[in-house]
Amino acid sequence: MKIVTVVGARPQFIKAACLSRAVRDEGEGFIEEVLVHTGQHYDDGLSAVFFRELAIPEPAYHLGVGSGSHGEQTGRMLAAVERVLEAERPAWVLVYGDTNSTLAGALAAAKLHIPVAHVEAGLRSYNRLMPEEINRVISDHLASLLFCPGRRAVANLAAEGITKGVVETGDIMADALAYAAGRMETDPGGTVARRLGLEPGGYLLATVHRSENTDDPGRLGEIMEALEDLARETPVVLPLHPRTEKALRTSFPGLLERRVPGLIVLEPVGYFDMIGLQKGARVILTDSGGVQKEAYWLGVPCVTLRDETEWVETVAAGWNVLAGTDRERIIRAVRDSRVPGSRPPLYGDGRAAARILAELKAAGREEGFHGKG
Ligand code: UD1
Ligand code: UDP
Repeated sequence: MKIVTVVGARPQFIKAACLSRAVRDEGEGFIEEVLVHTGQHYDDGLSAVFFRELAIPEPAYHLGVGSGSHGEQTGRMLAAVERVLEAERPAWVLVYGDTNSTLAGALAAAKLHIPVAHVEAGLRSYNRLMPEEINRVISDHLASLLFCPGRRAVANLAAEGITKGVVETGDIMADALAYAAGRMETDPGGTVARRLGLEPGGYLLATVHRSENTDDPGRLGEIMEALEDLARETPVVLPLHPRTEKALRTSFPGLLERRVPGLIVLEPVGYFDMIGLQKGARVILTDSGGVQKEAYWLGVPCVTLRDETEWVETVAAGWNVLAGTDRERIIRAVRDSRVPGSRPPLYGDGRAAARILAELKAAGREEGFHGKG
């Protein structure tokens, strides 16, 4: 059975690596995966580094779509993915998460009557101003198999009338973290933290890339002021997404050159370095979806630089605080953050890839596919 997997952005490479590995190791020749990279992310530090670190095979197709406005970027992807699907005629198209690459993959497939499987289905922020919310709602409504990271995602889909093809698999990012933990045990290497001379528990880690924060100079300015203030007390490591770097250079010329003592601005780091940095952080400040969960799994308190989150269970468990972007609120949230007494298991057990693979195999058998092609 042939599956076309469409990926394009950093977190999708990390997620897809786990399932691609499972297909190679346990697919038993039943599933042939054709990997398509839309080219949404193209910098080495946002793309190739993950292919190297996570041993993801070279994509069969690289669409080279690059950056652009939402309509322009998604439209280019849609046309290019459609051409691939016409040529490959797969049994399924597999998409991950909620980026424009997800939407383009799902829409191109659905229009060609090719069933869509969506990994990380059912998440909702209920904020339609987020481009991701639009992408995930549409992708879920187009999908025939919906792999949910947790119970709430299943319930969110049911509330929209989607119950068929819904499977709670656990979160594939937990699989990725387990893989990284294993690799880092045998090859602890020189983590970025050590190279920077930072002690475990002796620094804060921050990531910012969400459009609601980068495209609004008011919100971005508050976040940067909070980070600068915090850095005067405790070093703050900030691996900077290129989108945020561009926004800072446009809205706050000179800020990145100002060199506030304690604020350590880095290029985006690879996955293992990022996990190492998160593990050693006292508190993580982020607007990333993936990083909120990783903070939880690694037992590091998280301050989320957003007004709402899809990962509400981490907030309910006391490990994640929604601080928005008010400078004072962010600083207070970091100062007040404590390690709660317990950390109930959330979002599965790190075996999502095996469950997804089993479901895909079952779907293939039901439809009468008996081997490749
Ligand atoms: C995208 C996803 C977001 C996801 C994030 C993961 C959408 C709508 N957004 O956001 O959901 O959380 O990826 O990191 O799909 N750029 C570069 N080099 C690159 C890629 C981008 O410099 O390799 C710059 C360009 O100026 C580009 C901007 O970053 O315009 C934004 O990139 P884009 O892929 O559109 O969105 P992200 O913010 O990365
Ligand atoms: N990540 C990384 N290097 C970085 C920043 C993030 O490897 O410099 C990893 C992070 O550990 C997580 C994933 O990228 O696994 C999250 O991606 P991102 O924050 O870009 O997107 P989101 O999860 O918000 O969609």
